[in-house]
Amino acid sequence: MSADKRIALSSDHAAIPLRRAIAEHMSAQGWDVVDIGPTTPESTHYPTHGAAAARLVASGDCRLGIVLCGTGQGIMMAANKVRGIRCGVCSDTFSARMIRQHNDANMLALGARVVGEGLALEIVDAFLDASFEGGRHATRVDMISALER
Ligand code: RB5
Repeated sequence: MSADKRIALSSDHAAIPLRRAIAEHMSAQGWDVVDIGPTTPESTHYPTHGAAAARLVASGDCRLGIVLCGTGQGIMMAANKVRGIRCGVCSDTFSARMIRQHNDANMLALGARVVGEGLALEIVDAFLDASFEGGRHATRVDMISALER
C-alpha cells in the first residue's frame, strides 16, 4: 500500500480501547494503520508513545498520525516536540477539519476520557477528509516551521 495511505497510531494505557476502535475504523476505510501500541493495559508514559508515532510521521514512513491519551493533551505536547510535527487536540469535528485546512496538521490527538467512541470516529473522519488549503495559510505554517530552526 502507498505511504500516502499509511497512518501511525499510538496511545498510552488510558486510551487502548478507543485506539483499537479507531484502528478498526480506519482499516475498514482502506488505511494502512501502523498501530505501535501499547497492547497491554499497564500504566505507561504518554511521551514515549507520542514521540514514537511522531517520528514515523516526521520521517515520512507515515503521512499522518493519530495519538491518544486520557485528555489528548500530554501526548500532543510530546508529539509536537518532534521536528516537523504539527499536532492538535480535538474534541469537535470543526476543529479537526480546520487543523488540516489552515494549520496543515499532520497529527491529531484525542482524549479517551473526554470524547466517546462515536464522536471520536467522527473527529477522525473530519481530520482525514480535509486537506490543506495553502495560500495565506502556507505563510503561517512556514512561520511555525521557522520556529524550529
Ligand atoms: C494518565 O493517567 C493521564 O495522565 C494521561 O493519559 C494523559 O491524560 C495526560 O495528558
